[in-house]
Amino acid sequence: MRGWLLPAIGLLALAAGGCGDYGSDPNAPPPPPEERLATWNDGVGDLLERECGLCHSDPAAFGAPGGFRLDRYNAADAGGGLLGAYEKRDRIDARAVSGTSMPPSGPLSDEDRAYLRVWLDAGAPEG
Ligand code: HEC
Repeated sequence: MRGWLLPAIGLLALAAGGCGDYGSDPNAPPPPPEERLATWNDGVGDLLERECGLCHSDPAAFGAPGGFRLDRYNAADAGGGLLGAYEKRDRIDARAVSGTSMPPSGPLSDEDRAYLRVWLDAGAPEG
């Protein structure tokens, strides 16, 4: 009995403490927004596309109100047309993070706004 128990405990301890990244335990609750990677590629893009993309995407389909696309990070248009989330980060802040007039159906969750705040404060990185 004793012979295998100690090594087994040692292995468990290694498995539990061995890696610091939060992705290791699929049952763990998601970390708070300020501890998640806040870059466009790590979740901000998905969040904005999910919450805003219906209206702020392909102008042919939905009009991209205000000439403003949120389904892409960087969409500077030489003709002065549609821009992406990076160029419009201050307006995202004003309308959906500091302010709450977007989306029109009601403000984002506190958690989503906190996550976007981390992204904005970091300079809206693409990742
Ligand atoms: C149901 C459609 C809809 C959704 C969803 C939506 N918007 Fe909008 N948005 C609009 C409309 C229509 C306007 C233009 C009228 C206005 O400015 O209020 C607008 C305007 C804006 C503007 C001003 C544009 C500019 O160039 O300054 C910003 C910023 C904005 N939305 C951000 C967002 C963000 C961020 C989200 C998601 C969190 C979002 N919107 C979701 C319809 C939508």
